[in-house]
Amino acid sequence: MQMGIDPNRWEHGSDFHLEALFTEEASAWWEGKVRLASGRDALLWVLLLGRERYGWTRVWLPSYNCEVVLQRLVGSPFQIRVYEAGPEGCGPTPNAEPGDVLVRTSYFGWGLPPLDRPFEGATVEDHTHDPWAATVSSATFAVASLRKTLPLSDGGVAWSPSGVPLPLSPALTPDHARSAARRQAAMALKRLYLAGAFSDKEAYRGMAVQAEAELGQGALSGMTGWSAAMANAIPLETWRETRAANGEWLASALEGLLGVEVIRPPMDWEMPGVPLGVFLRCRSAAIRQALRDELCAARIYPAVLWPVGQLPYALPEAQRMFSDTTLMLHVDARYARPDLERVAQTVRSAVCHISNDVFSC
Ligand SMILES: Cc1ncc(COP(=O)(O)O)c(C=O)c1O
Repeated sequence: MQMGIDPNRWEHGSDFHLEALFTEEASAWWEGKVRLASGRDALLWVLLLGRERYGWTRVWLPSYNCEVVLQRLVGSPFQIRVYEAGPEGCGPTPNAEPGDVLVRTSYFGWGLPPLDRPFEGATVEDHTHDPWAATVSSATFAVASLRKTLPLSDGGVAWSPSGVPLPLSPALTPDHARSAARRQAAMALKRLYLAGAFSDKEAYRGMAVQAEAELGQGALSGMTGWSAAMANAIPLETWRETRAANGEWLASALEGLLGVEVIRPPMDWEMPGVPLGVFLRCRSAAIRQALRDELCAARIYPAVLWPVGQLPYALPEAQRMFSDTTLMLHVDARYARPDLERVAQTVRSAVCHISNDVFSC
C-alpha cells in the first residue's frame, strides 16, 4: 500500500501526486540534459536548433503520436509530413530530401520500431516513456517529457546522443511559471486528499485540468525551479527498477484472461527499455469501454495512449484499432505489491463480468 495513504482513499492510476522523495545526490543522468518546460517544448526547441544550425525545414512525424506534439508544431516554421509508424511497427521509410529531419518515437518504453531502411537525413528520438533506455543512439538529438515517468509538475529534457554541443535552456516564461504553479498546487492537494485531509476531489481536479490545458501554449520555456529541484531529489534508478518489477508482476498476473490480452513488447525493436505500464488489448472498442468503466468505478484509472481526435491525415487502420481497443494500467513506483494485487483481482473480475454475455467464464 502507498505510504501515508488513507485506505478509504485508495485509488490507482491517473496523474501523479506530490511525493516526498530523497536521494543523497542527483543522478549523473541529468548531466548534459537541457531542461525545458515539457516534452513538446523540448522537441520544438531541438527542431529550431536544427533549423538554425543545419537548415532543417521539413519534419517527418510518426503517424501514431501524442496529439499535443503535433499541435505544438502547428504554426512553427516547419513543413510537417507524416510517415507510418506506431505500436504495430513502421511502414516504408520516407525518402529524405535536403533539410529533412525524421522524428522517431519509442512507444511505451518498448523501444523504437525498426525502419525498413535507414533514413538518409537527420533524426530526433522521443524517449518520453523510458528516457533511460536511450544509451546507444546516434540521433542528432533526443527528447523526453518527464511528467509521464516521474512525479513532476512539469519538465522535458533535450540532449544530443551524437555529442552535438547544446546551448543553455531557454528562460522560464511567466506563462509557464503560472500554469506549472497550478499543477504543483493540484499535486500537493491530491496528496492531501489521498491522506484523508478533505473529501472533495474537485479541489484539485479542476486545477489539474486547467494546468494541462495551459501547458505548451505560449513561448518556449525552461523548466520551473521547483521541478528542477524535485528532479534532483528523485532516486531515478530505484524508480525505474520498481516500475520494471511492478510491470513484470502485473503482466504475469493478468495472463490468460478470456478475450483480453496482455500486450508484450515486441522482441526486435531498437533500444528496448522498461515498459511504461501494462497494456491490455480487448476484442472490441465496446469491451474496452466496458472494462474501463468497471475499473473507474473501482477507482482504478487506466490510460488510453492515445485517444485519436481530428487528425489532418488518415491514420492507418491498425493504429486506430490500437487506440480504440487498448488501455494501459500504471505500474510506476507509487505502487507496491498490495496495490497491484488489488488491481489484478479487479481486472480479472471485471473481465469476467464483461465477458459473461460473450463467453462463459
Ligand atoms: C511520447 C510522447 N512525447 C511527447 C509528449 C509531450 O509531452 P508533454 O506533455 O510534456 O509536452 C507526450 C505526452 O504525453 C508523449 O506521450
